[in-house]
Amino acid sequence: MNKPVITVIGSINMDLVTVVERFPNQGETILGERFLTTPGGKGANQAVAAARLGADVRMIGAVGEDAFGRELLRSLQSEGISVDGVKPVTHQHTGIASITISEQDNRIIVVPGANHALAPEDLDQCESVIAESDVCVVQLEIPLSVVERAVSLACRHGVRVIVNPAPAQLLPPSVFKKASFLTPNEHERTILFDKMDEEAFADKLIVTEGAKGVRIWQDGQERLIPSFQVPVVDTTGAGDTFNGAFAVALAEGKPLEEACRFANAAAALSVTKLGAQAGMPTRGDVESFLSKQKES
Ligand code: RIB
Repeated sequence: MNKPVITVIGSINMDLVTVVERFPNQGETILGERFLTTPGGKGANQAVAAARLGADVRMIGAVGEDAFGRELLRSLQSEGISVDGVKPVTHQHTGIASITISEQDNRIIVVPGANHALAPEDLDQCESVIAESDVCVVQLEIPLSVVERAVSLACRHGVRVIVNPAPAQLLPPSVFKKASFLTPNEHERTILFDKMDEEAFADKLIVTEGAKGVRIWQDGQERLIPSFQVPVVDTTGAGDTFNGAFAVALAEGKPLEEACRFANAAAALSVTKLGAQAGMPTRGDVESFLSKQKES
């Protein structure tokens, strides 16, 4: 079987991760337990998730011409991801995310840097890459004008496009109309549909609800596809793993429910290790995990 071709248009960050017993109060200094720098960014995370699951992945984004940028490009290439569409920029630092992990949850501040130097014209230059894809995936850590262009180009070439509306912001109606799927979490769902009629887009909505699972609407029926219970080390990147895995399953022609179950399994495995990408499973990991679920 040919590998599914997935193009991810999105952010590339270095994650600066601190693990701490409890979150500090305002104005308080506390001692952390662990610190690490590790590759992240919603776009790059989704690209890595899809690549580990067997897709041929092309990344479109931007990094600074600095040490983090070089390291992140090397890291994407080591996963077999094409970085021909990643623009090096001199006037901005590589994007970073300051992440604090505690109480089985995280708090994240992103400084976009070079991610916000990506322009709609950069996507025009990658039009053939988008046209050759089975599925495109886009998130909101890049300028909204780029998101709009990505969705339009995919739509022009009849390529399905998953819009992961994270971090939450309002989207223009054209993005709702052209997206094949919208994958907010519960918080993002509230913001996304503040001014839009949710019912009109229910058939393209997949709401990720963390440990509960994902909610879908098919033929007017609402359904929760339950997630899998696993020991949680770090939930950072779980939503990204879901999106990358869902893109692969969709490109392979899996029906919606089966695609969500496959992506739920990948996301569950991803939370068992520290770091957004460290726990992302391979195809073999997901298949053996799912076959064990059938046995039990
Ligand atoms: O979704 C998790 C990601 O959000 C992190 O890797 C961080 O870089 C931020 O973009």
